Amino acid sequence: MRVDVFTQVPHAFGWLTEQKPLATVLGSELELRFLNYRDTTPLRSGQVDDDPYGGGAGMVLRVDVVDAALEAAYGGDRPARIVALTPQGRSLDQAMVEELAQESELALLSSRFEGFDDRIVSHLATDAVSIGPYVLSGGELPAMVVLDAIARRLPGALAEGSGEHESFSAELDGGLEYPHYTRPAAYRGWEVPDVLLSGDHARIDRWRRDQSRSRSLA
Ligand code: ADE
Repeated sequence: MRVDVFTQVPHAFGWLTEQKPLATVLGSELELRFLNYRDTTPLRSGQVDDDPYGGGAGMVLRVDVVDAALEAAYGGDRPARIVALTPQGRSLDQAMVEELAQESELALLSSRFEGFDDRIVSHLATDAVSIGPYVLSGGELPAMVVLDAIARRLPGALAEGSGEHESFSAELDGGLEYPHYTRPAAYRGWEVPDVLLSGDHARIDRWRRDQSRSRSLA
């Protein structure tokens, strides 16, 4: 799939793209582009934001600037999903991640300052997504969260399982989780569940399934 991230701070994504799972899928399953609103703004001196009508603190990302960025990237052929990252959006969950990971093309719009001119969200974007009920200083961290969550759902992103739990790893990677333990088997009296030391992979599989079910219901 191709993901285009519209941002004023493309360099903020450097770390993420060097890490797994992004690094693993980049150039194969994932094509990633960073597009800076400043490069395509119709305004002078790279201006992208403005004072809010009605007054108030902070600056607002302009609708004409975002439209120009989309026009430069796509012309009339815009991706089916254009996601604005905003705390007012729909809460990101694993189901939405799975849904977005199915797209062949995706655009993520981030903003800094006080956020978007609302017409960006209502007319230019197809989706508004929040990564949680708190307000961050910009959409870059939320865009990274979405990117990471999508990248690990792409084919080849995750290392193959050791073989023990491959029978249901796809289901687990889809969002369910079971508890993990490693050496030592006992530490300060805190013991690893016996079943994991049993070597009985069918039993281990069953136990992990039960654990992830009870966790997902919690
Ligand atoms: N921009 C600022 N805060 C945000 C949040 N919680 N989710 C998505 N985008 C945001």
